[in-house]
Amino acid sequence: MNSRTNNPTTTAIPSGIGDTAALSLAEPRSLDRSALLPWTHAATLAPSPDNNQPWRFEITGQSIDVFLDRARALPSDVHSLFDLTAIGAAVENCCIAARASGYRPTITIDHPHSQLSAPSALTRIANICFEADANGDALSNLLTTRHTSRAAYSTQPVDDQHLRGLAEAVGSFPEVQLHWIRDRSAIRQCAWLIGRSDRLRFERQAFHSELFRQLRFTPAEAQATRDGLDLRTLGLPPFGSLTLRAISNWNVLNAMNFLGASRMLSMPSVMSVLCSGAIGLLTIPRADCESLVGGGRAFQRLWLALSGLASSNPRSGNQKLQLHPLGSLPIFLAHWDQLHGRELTPSQQRLAQRIKRDFIRLVPTAADRVLQIAFRIGYGPASPCRSLRRDAHDVLAEPGLPGAHPALSPDAIARIDEHAA
Ligand SMILES: Cc1cc2nc3c(=O)[nH]c(=O)nc-3n(C[C@H](O)[C@H](O)[C@H](O)COP(=O)(O)O)c2cc1C
Repeated sequence: MNSRTNNPTTTAIPSGIGDTAALSLAEPRSLDRSALLPWTHAATLAPSPDNNQPWRFEITGQSIDVFLDRARALPSDVHSLFDLTAIGAAVENCCIAARASGYRPTITIDHPHSQLSAPSALTRIANICFEADANGDALSNLLTTRHTSRAAYSTQPVDDQHLRGLAEAVGSFPEVQLHWIRDRSAIRQCAWLIGRSDRLRFERQAFHSELFRQLRFTPAEAQATRDGLDLRTLGLPPFGSLTLRAISNWNVLNAMNFLGASRMLSMPSVMSVLCSGAIGLLTIPRADCESLVGGGRAFQRLWLALSGLASSNPRSGNQKLQLHPLGSLPIFLAHWDQLHGRELTPSQQRLAQRIKRDFIRLVPTAADRVLQIAFRIGYGPASPCRSLRRDAHDVLAEPGLPGAHPALSPDAIARIDEHAA
């Protein structure tokens, strides 16, 4: 049975974002598969939760279908909140690459006004078609620069001009609101909120197994799957790797939690938030497909714009602005708001209630909105190591193949490789 869901209700979103500067504009050429392939490659450079890369792409004539690959979802995700954020970022990367080649993308979202509560194994989320006529995109040369830096940043406040630039980057998405926390005492409160949310990672068996499913302890492990969290990208403190190995057994961790292990383990998150110049919160009005993809696109534009900014303060070594997503708070709130805490224990439910209350006190304007992602920013060092991406033949679906991790025939793989060459 073909488990893809195609042609549901759709909505077309006018594009044209960033059609201003033309940094790497090329002459439009005829649109065949070899012209579209590099745009799917650009899409895969997007960030994703725990680097799960939940996407698949299908080149259909002169357009690209973007699918959510359910098999790659993380158990902690709520109605694909994070996976659709990643898909939105991938869609935006694809559009930026197309604009840089002189094409104007038009995005059509499937299921725009519904939540993906039980998506099929391979669910089409968007179709992107292209027409010649665009003025490039100022962010195109930052696609390969953007990455997650989990280092400690300077606590120097982020320049107002930089914050204005970041607000402009999301300005073309009217549904998206960006909230900044800049005051040091509010940053401290936020650090504790995030620390408390992070405890969930170590207090629920499903989330604990998810973390260890995604961790890659050695470079060889990272290379073998080309996804997941390479330990070298995590900026762990000394003995961090040993601690992780020690708690990889759920029974051991569960027993240690009676002695407060989860509180101790969330301390590095608290410290990292304290070592930041500002905290950003990106909110959307609803958690439906269209809003989440739009929010993911906006987040990606903000992150790309940020990757080009450096401190003008020589005392901070003219360091670049860095970004680190903080996923535990939005996911914890989604478990409470959208799933009404039904996957949480009674004590976790009480914690969720307190976190929700304190969050609204901290950011009253976010009260009736969905927190899609929180992140910290600041001037600091880049990550010494970049996370890998899966190869083209793992993310490209051949037209007409059945969904759910289709077993590509050797012929199909050879054909894709031929095109990619
Ligand atoms: C929706 C979303 C949530 C994320 N949450 C976290 C998080 O809680 N902690 C973290 O360290 N990184 C988080 N990340 C960053 C990813 O781990 C990162 O994007 C991925 O490993 C790929 O690495 P890169 O961004 O350097 O390309 C998140 C990314 C996304 C898109």
